[in-house]
Amino acid sequence: MGVSAPISGDIGAAVAALRAGALVALPTETVYGLAADASSADSVARVFAAKGRPATHPVIVHLPNLRSLDDWADHVPSWARSLAETFWPGPLTLVVPKASTVLDAVTGGQETVGLRVPSHQVTLQVLERFGGGLAAPSANRYGRVSPTTAQHVVAELGDALDADRGDLVLDGGPCPVGVESTIVGAWDDTPRLLRPGAVTAEQLAEITGLAVSADPTDVRVPGSTQSHYAPTSQVMAVEADTLDDVLASLDVGATVGLIAPAGRKVISSVVRLASPTDDDEYARQLYSALRQGDSLSLDIVVAVLPQETGVGRAVRDRLLRAADHQVTR
Ligand code: TXA
Ligand code: MG
Repeated sequence: MGVSAPISGDIGAAVAALRAGALVALPTETVYGLAADASSADSVARVFAAKGRPATHPVIVHLPNLRSLDDWADHVPSWARSLAETFWPGPLTLVVPKASTVLDAVTGGQETVGLRVPSHQVTLQVLERFGGGLAAPSANRYGRVSPTTAQHVVAELGDALDADRGDLVLDGGPCPVGVESTIVGAWDDTPRLLRPGAVTAEQLAEITGLAVSADPTDVRVPGSTQSHYAPTSQVMAVEADTLDDVLASLDVGATVGLIAPAGRKVISSVVRLASPTDDDEYARQLYSALRQGDSLSLDIVVAVLPQETGVGRAVRDRLLRAADHQVTR
């Protein structure tokens, strides 16, 4: 293996690297993605190898604009087209029946493909100049916390990227949303919420005028319901009203980090990792707070669950996955 990939701010270099088949970690408004030319099976295979991700797991294809939707989709329900018109560029992924040209390496062999137009200006420029689709999962090792800064990408994948092959990390600053895109299944008449994100279930219902299904059995992709988004510290997800009881019950020898709303005081000795003032800020700070807990080698991170409305639903979802779907009481 060669030298680990450099951090760069050079959009032209990133486009050239992608054309040459190299990997480029890119900033999006949600989290950083590890991108490769979606029309090159070899480049996509390198993304899976770098992440240590199973080959059956599909990746999202990032597009430069709404017009390219029909190059990648076989057909798009009209309600889903309305969502794309409303929320693209932005944190929404549509899972639609794939065009015949989409590679199995991208879809994991499924008949559908996940598509989105991200809104981060740096990556939009890369996409416009590249011209095609970029396959990009979050730029973390499989099952771990998604990166929200270029430095996080280097910490996650520095060893797996290779400057000798032209790989690089494009720095676009901290991600303004902080949690992964909303994923909507769009293969029939029913919008299916496959992963909550910053485009909320309320917004999906409003724009489509349809009832949005959030049945977990809609998620037909291997791995997607398992524990995920997990740091090394044990995450304890708690409801706000039981926080004091949970903190009082912890082993006195344990080192404990806390993520709780601003203004929420606790008596125990804990390391405050984040104090968000609202759910948007909670989403933005969540992953760097979990990473900080790991870098301090904390035994436990206690995190207060937000309400299930708006982007709070996405934060709850990621916390519950990190906590193995347990709410501690
Ligand atoms: O915000 C995001 O979506 C970020 C940024 C980089 O765009 N990307 C991201 O990708 O979170 P990834 O690969 O870490 O998560 C994509 C999720 C996976 O859980 C995958 O199973 C699901 O999207 N997915 C992709 N294609 C799908 C398909 N055809 N059917 C169902 N689920 C799909
Ligand atoms: Mg991911």
